[in-house]
Amino acid sequence: MMTAPLRAGEITVPVALGARAYDIAIGRGLIGDLGKRIAALKPGASAAIVVDETVAAHHLKATEESLTAADVRAVPVKVPPGEATKSWRMLEQVCDRLLDARIERNDVIVALGGGVVGDLAGFAAAILRRGLDVVQVPTTLLAQVDSSVGGKTGINTRHGKNLIGAFYQPILVIADTALLDTLPQRDFRAGYAEVAKFGLLGDAGFFAWLEANWQDVFAGGSSSGSSAREHAIAIACRGKAAIVARDERETGERALLNLGHTFGHAFEAAAGFSDKLLHGEAVALGIACAFEFSTHLGLIPGNDAGRVAHHLAAVGLPTRVGDVPGLHVTADRLMDLIAQDKKVKRGKLTFILCRGIGKAFIANDVDAAQVHTFLAEKLA
Ligand code: GLY
Repeated sequence: MMTAPLRAGEITVPVALGARAYDIAIGRGLIGDLGKRIAALKPGASAAIVVDETVAAHHLKATEESLTAADVRAVPVKVPPGEATKSWRMLEQVCDRLLDARIERNDVIVALGGGVVGDLAGFAAAILRRGLDVVQVPTTLLAQVDSSVGGKTGINTRHGKNLIGAFYQPILVIADTALLDTLPQRDFRAGYAEVAKFGLLGDAGFFAWLEANWQDVFAGGSSSGSSAREHAIAIACRGKAAIVARDERETGERALLNLGHTFGHAFEAAAGFSDKLLHGEAVALGIACAFEFSTHLGLIPGNDAGRVAHHLAAVGLPTRVGDVPGLHVTADRLMDLIAQDKKVKRGKLTFILCRGIGKAFIANDVDAAQVHTFLAEKLA
């Protein structure tokens, strides 16, 4: 289902998935048009807004007003903030509350929030009444460029993160960049790691642009700042949309989006998935490791690893364990955590490595001993 731009300055990025194609609309103030867009896509539908209490305090009123102005019945379903919300218990509660509110098969779920709400609400949409349409309205930079796009939904279990879920594409993504104005600076910075990732994995020109323009991307708000921010989000979304269109279910190249994530997840786990190290910060640390490890393996001539670390550090992201207050971890512990990661196949480690900036590739056969040597040197 595609929609026409409703506002001047809006950027539309199509996700070309045949019968499941949809648009990502990017721009300031787009939440004001949410009701009109839902009414156009699904005449007569009600909209259940799944939102956490923190985001609700900032953005629920505007979302409800947008829906009711277009005669769309709005039903808020609030959940607590935080990763613990991605649980069986909350999934059950959300589904029951949607059924209590008589949300029907032709209605729509609006996932208003960051990655936690997007994943939980997207999964609820995938299974409730065997599948309801979902509109993703991401409210963090990380969600705008990554988790709201591409249809990965799910919850965590005691066995690990994201182990229960579904590929379930939204019918629309509304990335209202004005919503980022209320995002704490630390969260914005963490999301920026995923923006930079798109340059580093396949678009060296975009990375060079970020090196020159990152301050405008962070500034937002002003007219020049907001256009740089929207441009960066659009380029990242275009990169992700192209990969998802070619490999929706991650049988191949979609794994490139995991650049920095194998090392990053291990650091995140070592920090107890706590505020000590946010996901995007772990990704920055992981990206720095991936470039250094690629250099250690002789894959990158020159100093691209230094250039990457320099940029991430310039924006205030961690690139060394010592940059993370209170994080103490050994190479042995990281290797244990990496071995538990889902990217281990038949005893070999899978990493996303690089031949330079913008030249990432999937390496399925990485020798664990080399990873251990590298980590021991990095942590020394
Ligand atoms: N966040 C990685 C992916 O969507 O595949």
